[in-house]
Amino acid sequence: MKLIISFIFVNLFIFITTLSLLSAASSIIYDSTGNKLLRGIPYYILPLLRGSGGGLTLSQNTKDACPLNVTQESFEVNNGAPFTFNPIILDEEIIRGAYPVSIEADVVNPCHGSNIWKVTTATAAKDDEDDLLTNIKHKKKKDGDKVVSVQIVTTGGEFNKPESCFQVVEDDVMPGLQSYQIQHCPFKCGTTSTDLTCYNVGVVRDSDGKGYLGRTDAIFPVVFTNSLRSSSQLMVKVSTSSQPGKLMRSE
Ligand SMILES: *[C@@H]1O[C@H](CO)[C@@H](O)[C@H](O)[C@H]1NC(C)=O
Repeated sequence: MKLIISFIFVNLFIFITTLSLLSAASSIIYDSTGNKLLRGIPYYILPLLRGSGGGLTLSQNTKDACPLNVTQESFEVNNGAPFTFNPIILDEEIIRGAYPVSIEADVVNPCHGSNIWKVTTATAAKDDEDDLLTNIKHKKKKDGDKVVSVQIVTTGGEFNKPESCFQVVEDDVMPGLQSYQIQHCPFKCGTTSTDLTCYNVGVVRDSDGKGYLGRTDAIFPVVFTNSLRSSSQLMVKVSTSSQPGKLMRSE
């Protein structure tokens, strides 16, 4: 098992190779029980590789901070928040691979604005040592690299806008285990851009180990678990460092 894990670990950094592992075919996406991934149904988005944290969720650094960040639960046993997938162009009930989708949190959001994911540039206050961007800058500086910004995923997006344009593609990380990579593909929604690049969306960590969802060169293989079938969890906690707030599912 150790061998397999380290093999995967090495693989995470060979991202150029992984591009070729990602199937370009517009296959149908399946949930973790083998059912087709359907539009509007709430799913937990869980990492394929266990031991590196739980499912994706929403969080707020302070009570009034908005929009919410999409982050990863620290504990593997936590499934996080449910999310829905909605095809942008095709009026279909199933979610197809490599087709543009909007991804939306299925919770009551304390922030004004939508629950739709968008990619946004995190800006750092210069003297805020806890900030994700500051930490990444420090880290990269040691490697002699220059980093200008970190692209993270938050709520507050708009349907069919480049910053809210995602796709799900099948990956091939563990043969025999179906898993998927979420990508941000700005050119597939509402733009005439000639830049045909899709960016992997995965977990970016700050120095405290907190995982933010963001654009990254690494892969982040995920599986989708129907949240209505998997448990009777009706309350979703949005973690706030100062004042934890409870959010009710919207249905
Ligand atoms: C989201 O994360 C960024 C980067 O760490 C931070 O600047 C921002 O305040 C966070 N937003 C919320 C709602 O906590």
